Amino acid sequence: MNCRQRFLDACHCKPVDRPPVWVMRQAGRHLPEYRALKEQYSFHELTQNPELALEVTMQPLRRYDMDAAIIFTDILVIPEAMGQNYGFPEGGGIAMEWAVRSAGDIDKLSTDGIREKLDYVGKSLELVRAELGDEKALIGFGGSPWTLATYMIEGGSSKDKRRARELFYTDRPLFDRLLTKITDALVDYLQMQIDAGVDAIQIFDSWGGVLAADAFEGASVRWMRELVEKIDGQVPTIVFSRDMHEHTDALASTKANVLGVGWTARLANVKKQLPDDVAVQGNLDPVLMNTTPELVERETTKLLDEMSQFDGHIFNLGHGISPQAKIECMERLVETIKDYA
Ligand code: CP3
Repeated sequence: MNCRQRFLDACHCKPVDRPPVWVMRQAGRHLPEYRALKEQYSFHELTQNPELALEVTMQPLRRYDMDAAIIFTDILVIPEAMGQNYGFPEGGGIAMEWAVRSAGDIDKLSTDGIREKLDYVGKSLELVRAELGDEKALIGFGGSPWTLATYMIEGGSSKDKRRARELFYTDRPLFDRLLTKITDALVDYLQMQIDAGVDAIQIFDSWGGVLAADAFEGASVRWMRELVEKIDGQVPTIVFSRDMHEHTDALASTKANVLGVGWTARLANVKKQLPDDVAVQGNLDPVLMNTTPELVERETTKLLDEMSQFDGHIFNLGHGISPQAKIECMERLVETIKDYA
């Protein structure tokens, strides 16, 4: 079966010979060939030069025979295109050039010309699409409006997203104005990715899990629902909400085709709670990739066995892969899934 078709069928909960597999973000960091490129170029250069972005996107696929590729870029290109640049401070994490703290700051953010400003992502996608041909699926992505807002309000990485959560409670009109702007920018950006030939769009709600149960709808879900509505079935949508807890129903209400699930949930239970036509993606503990091929094979087989009763499972790690991941563990992961009958 063609990898691209296997991936698309799984998104639509159709039967497949085995679950498709790909791995989530920052796959490159454990690869010597990615680190070698980083010696020569900055992260921004790698993302903004379509030839280099093509190379980085393809690196994991040359080593591992996965069913889909995810384009090499970052969720933070949206705040950047809106006028809020990002960087990587020495100690790790993200630092934005400034933080959104007032109505005036929101006014400074622009939603004009997003497609043009992020044209380099469209060009990268076209190059990757041409290289993959019809063989493998290509995944485009964006951050969820809430997850992007946390970086924009906090001014970078932060532990508990306190300021962003405070703004949601204390000044809802201001919060909504910011989230509306981010959502508008994302609608144009995701449409550009669809026009450039992606097979699916993943929305990373990486920080959905810090929200109170009562705040989840207003702060995150409604904005993702709007994105899925605007995509309107042109390509399948995957919503990954980290630490989704008991929010299965809320996430299903976005009408995404696939829910991405972190490693702390029992994937079969999540699948059982969903309508039959909603697929799941996940959710092996990424830390296993730092251990041994034997452990990876054992845990992968367990997850495959548990999920074999369902249609609509895309195999993935429960979150991003760490720089400590071992190549032999990744190789065994993909082999185990491919050999699974
Ligand atoms: O697998 C891939 O490489 C696909 C491309 C991709 C990147 N970032 C490249 C990247 C994707 C899908 C992302 C998504 C992303 N970026 C998210 C959502 C997913 C998630 O993790 O929940 C978030 C929150 C970001 C923001 C971001 N970018 C963070 C927190 C970091 C790490 C900063 C640190 O502490 O090192 C990045 C950097 C980043 N984005 C790297 C890559 C390959 C690492 C850069 C490097 O170290 O070389």
